[in-house]
Amino acid sequence: LEGALGGGPLAGKRVLVTSGPTHEPIDPVRYIANRSSGAQGAALGAALAGLGAEVVFVTGPADVPPPAGVQVVKVQTAQQMLQAVQAALPCDVAVFAAAVADWRVASASDRKLKKTKDGMPKLEFAENPDILATVSQMTEGRPGLIVGFAAETNDVIAHATAKRKRKGCDWIVANDVSPETGIMGGSENAVHLISDTGVEDWPRMGKDAVAQKLAARIAAALS
Ligand code: CTP
Ligand code: CA
Repeated sequence: LEGALGGGPLAGKRVLVTSGPTHEPIDPVRYIANRSSGAQGAALGAALAGLGAEVVFVTGPADVPPPAGVQVVKVQTAQQMLQAVQAALPCDVAVFAAAVADWRVASASDRKLKKTKDGMPKLEFAENPDILATVSQMTEGRPGLIVGFAAETNDVIAHATAKRKRKGCDWIVANDVSPETGIMGGSENAVHLISDTGVEDWPRMGKDAVAQKLAARIAAALS
């Protein structure tokens, strides 16, 4: 409501959020995907809009609907997501919550693949562009604050710290998705916020609470 009335600590700030999985076509009826529901990204979009930001919400085919009060850009593939992100720039803050498929089928068929007696299709893969790294490494017009996510299993903090350096983003929200945490596919997250000043361990909380806390931290960093 604050946002709608033009107030809030993020009023006048343009924030880009990526969310959801991407779908990478095999042929006109089949695709490769992942289990991202888009819930964390949607919660973030809502929280940022709630603080008054103008939110551009670039989303793959998620299970949950996009939040109200944001500008929604729907895409299917990683390549389309990169294009939509680049078209949405410049922005003050970019948060990359999407679970982008790392690979696409190198030459998707424009016809439905059929069963034949000659055996099964052999899929070859090509690596998708790394959207977070591409934007983080821009030399001109880079968003002032870039936040990535990292879902990791073992050595969560070490992996996520290395990922932050490799990609060149400012913050990484590291999520422990080890099977014993029961996090994957659930409504809660156990995250660590990694920045150049170190690692903060947040208690396990609902995805909405993670979103509220992260949005508040973003607002504080910009003020
Ligand atoms: N990401 C992205 N584009 C990609 C892959 C990842 O923008 N092609 C972003 C995600 O949105 C997330 C961050 O990068 O914010 C980390 O994603 P993750 O899959 O953990 O990183 P990868 O570099 O793909 O490493 P891994 O081999 O662990 O999957
Ligand atoms: Ca990945």
